[in-house]
Amino acid sequence: MEVCSITAHSSESIIEEVLKIYSSIKDLEDEEILQDTSDHLKNVYQRLDDLITLPIDYEAAEAILNGHGFDQALDTIIRFIYLYTIRLETEYANSILTSNEPWEMLKIYSFYPNYCQLVRTEYQGAGLKANDTVVFLGSGPLPLTLILMCHQHGLKGVGIEQDEQRVELSRKVVDKLGLSNAIKIIHGNHFQLPLSEGADLIMIAAQAQPKKEIVEQLAKALPAGTKISCRIYEKGLRRLLDRSIFVGLPAKLAHEFKECCRIHPLPPVYNTVVFAVRSSAAAPERQ
Ligand SMILES: C[S@@+](CC[C@H](N)C(=O)[O-])C[C@H]1O[C@@H](n2cnc3c(N)ncnc32)[C@H](O)[C@@H]1O
Repeated sequence: MEVCSITAHSSESIIEEVLKIYSSIKDLEDEEILQDTSDHLKNVYQRLDDLITLPIDYEAAEAILNGHGFDQALDTIIRFIYLYTIRLETEYANSILTSNEPWEMLKIYSFYPNYCQLVRTEYQGAGLKANDTVVFLGSGPLPLTLILMCHQHGLKGVGIEQDEQRVELSRKVVDKLGLSNAIKIIHGNHFQLPLSEGADLIMIAAQAQPKKEIVEQLAKALPAGTKISCRIYEKGLRRLLDRSIFVGLPAKLAHEFKECCRIHPLPPVYNTVVFAVRSSAAAPERQ
């Protein structure tokens, strides 16, 4: 497989690279992405990373993403990134479980610096304080957001994960890191929010899907004044990773929630974080 990087950031070369990547992954089954150990997928993941971090402006990205009937390619690339991220987290969670130095092992995880910065942004952006409780929708096999929120900022955390195997693996990781008193992982999804726990912030993972349905359900369930934060991919070609931005999430959010602030990513972070409060109009009574 030819490994190429983009030098001329012309939209033609970017479109060509998107289509090359699409053709190299379009026939892969989910299990192949989750299990494949060859360098091929690692190369594809790196090429996508090179692509989405290209310093191109909003309009140029818009023209590329909207102008070429990319829907199928975008859906295939989003599925690949989603599954490959779960695979990386699963591999890393297992290496933490077999390590004598689990914290040292965690700190060398390639995305650790990204999460440290992202979690700091969310802790400050939401005005959280020690002993507050956050509920994180989409905690995954390696619940790094909750681990850092609790270990570095003294919070309590509840993770909601829809996949039972990932729930089990993440519980073992939390226990191995000595955080079982601070972090609880629940098997469920956005229809099973542990609101009786009293959350100071409901956090929506970048890969929690489908975003529009999640926001609709949160609007139905959350009492007025409840704070949420939602990670989205908005800047430049990062929108290759998340189609919800194209399908009316902003309008849905704006209708049910009052946006407080939006923090755009600074390297090495990829996500924009939207902070909002459940508006009182039509909000259910607080339990
Ligand atoms: C790969 S993790 C990424 C989050 C990362 N581990 C963290 O700590 O920030 C995303 C997880 O979200 C889960 N997920 C996606 N949509 C969900 C939903 N609606 N409800 C519950 N879990 C969801 C997926 O199963 C996946 O394991």
